[in-house]
Amino acid sequence: MDEMANYYKERAPVYDRVYGYPERQADLRFLESHIQETYRGRKVLEIAAGTGYWTQYISRTARSILATDREVAQVDELLKRSYECPVDTRIQDAYHMDRLVDEGKSFSGAFAGFWLSHVPKERLKEFLTSLHQCLTPGARVILIDNSAVQCDRFPITGTDENGNTYQTRELDSGTTHRVLKNFPTLDELKQTTEPFGEFQNYIDLENFWLFQYKFKK
Ligand SMILES: C[S@@+](CC[C@H](N)C(=O)[O-])C[C@H]1O[C@@H](n2cnc3c(N)ncnc32)[C@H](O)[C@@H]1O
Repeated sequence: MDEMANYYKERAPVYDRVYGYPERQADLRFLESHIQETYRGRKVLEIAAGTGYWTQYISRTARSILATDREVAQVDELLKRSYECPVDTRIQDAYHMDRLVDEGKSFSGAFAGFWLSHVPKERLKEFLTSLHQCLTPGARVILIDNSAVQCDRFPITGTDENGNTYQTRELDSGTTHRVLKNFPTLDELKQTTEPFGEFQNYIDLENFWLFQYKFKK
């Protein structure tokens, strides 16, 4: 099991603390409302859905959601919430969405919260290629992640040969984990997604950013 898997498995029961920080509340309310508008009536694929924090808001307007994550412990937490549209779950590696395609599944929306920052730069294309094979043309894709202000809590403690940055995170048990956490710029986000989609929106909040594009095939 890799470092990130251990970290998110152990952190699952207390993951939602990040949504309680007082300084994040205004940004969260804005994002919660924004994503509901985007996914109205859509079939949404959620990547690395974690404990389902965003799933609950998407479910208010979406037609259906397939919430995926690699960690059983995270999906167990997600299943404790209630949702307002049909939500299926799947233990699924974000880099191997081909399994869904084999089953004939396709989606008119995709969402990934706080996931892109964990994708190594050298695997971005692999991740997006994996994701896009499940989307219908015109699908709306939203990526949400932390802005660099998050480094005030978790300073960068390392950089590798590909330019990926790392933070050292400590859990309640006292274990420490070296977690890959990147902070892509708007230019980098545009460059990475341009071959696959039409840029639609970038919202730069104090604590988070939101990047949205329309999948074009
Ligand atoms: C920072 S959490 C984000 C959870 C949720 N999207 C949210 O915003 O609250 C990152 C999630 O990625 C999941 N994850 C890590 N590696 C993964 C992979 N290769 N494929 C799918 N999910 C993965 C972890 O289990 C964890 O739930």
